[in-house]
Amino acid sequence: MEKWDWMREELERLNTERLFRQMTVFDSPQAALVEVEGRKQHLFSSNSYLDLCGHPEIKAYAGQVLAEYGAGSGGSRLTTGTTRIHMELEETIARFKHREAALVFNTGYMANVGILQALAGKGDVIYSDELNHASIIDGCRLSRADLVIYRHNDMDDLEEKIKAHPGRRGVIVSDGVFSMDGDIVNLPRMAELADRYGLLSMIDEAHATGVIGATGRGTEEYYGMEGAVDVLMGTLSKAVGGEGGFVCGSRVLIDYLINKARSFIFSTALSPVSMAADTQGLRVIMNHPERVKNLQENIRYCCGALERRGIHARSETAIIPIIIGDEGRAMKVMELLKERGYYISAIRYPTVAKGSARLRLALMSSHTHEELDGLAEALAECMKLAGATPDLPESR
Ligand SMILES: Cc1ncc(COP(=O)(O)O)c(C=O)c1O
Repeated sequence: MEKWDWMREELERLNTERLFRQMTVFDSPQAALVEVEGRKQHLFSSNSYLDLCGHPEIKAYAGQVLAEYGAGSGGSRLTTGTTRIHMELEETIARFKHREAALVFNTGYMANVGILQALAGKGDVIYSDELNHASIIDGCRLSRADLVIYRHNDMDDLEEKIKAHPGRRGVIVSDGVFSMDGDIVNLPRMAELADRYGLLSMIDEAHATGVIGATGRGTEEYYGMEGAVDVLMGTLSKAVGGEGGFVCGSRVLIDYLINKARSFIFSTALSPVSMAADTQGLRVIMNHPERVKNLQENIRYCCGALERRGIHARSETAIIPIIIGDEGRAMKVMELLKERGYYISAIRYPTVAKGSARLRLALMSSHTHEELDGLAEALAECMKLAGATPDLPESR
């Protein structure tokens, strides 16, 4: 047996099951209209919900910082990697999220892994929603705490499970907006349970920041519950249009994480250029709340356009899942849409459960009504051609 055989066999298996993954190469910046493999495509798959990746103010400030500081940061945050530009971003995040302090990690993934590893250890309990993002799952595993999974957004189930672990220190963690279903955590009940049982509450605002709440401040603003969550985590890589992860909360939380979160301590800081882009992205969101309003209006319009064509679509967030079920069929719909100039990712196992493959529509504030109508029309046609019947997941 040759030493690479087992890898080849596994790749063949993935291919046979239509689960083999490949990267698509884009020849243009992230925007509502992109160039993919030499063809123009309407992009309905990007997490750049406010279409900020190429915003002129962001490019200008990042360019200025590049000229001033150069490309790299030269060290981890606790050695030589912290510049004035890093501090400016953390102050801006804290102001945006109405918190005492904030801390930036290199990615959202590293934020979740680092926060959970730091906040829970052997003997503690982490209560985690069954549909939480992979980075939360990996953070739970790394912490070595006892992991208790509760049914999706089911606060009665969560309470029962908390009661089964009386007197144990722990954390309740949930996506704010769920990344593959687009639904929103039941924050009022979750926060109430955390307070009642003396647990820390943590939400992941990756898909909520810049998207929900009247001014895009996320899940707490959506519910009118600002300050309710102990550990507010998010990413700068989605609506903010840049890169990096963050956590914000009390000064004591941030000081603790600076000293304990290994993914923060043992990695070179992001470049000042990325920090500058993120800071300006947040400033654009704060100065132009109409971008958030446009996105929210597009969500309503798109759901209406899909429903009128018999495709179930109910979402208050930029993520609208169109459940197909069968992996091969989901890939077929994606290919047919691409031929018609619409780029939408099919999401399959292991990102979602086997047999629940879907097209994950992601909207942008800059999509026009014309584009949204065109998308709905094309989607209805391609689903019909592929023999795919739309269905809603149980939880929605
Ligand atoms: C809910 C959620 N949390 C965390 C992450 C990780 O963030 P990042 O892409 O910045 O690493 C993502 C997305 O990739 C996500 O969807």
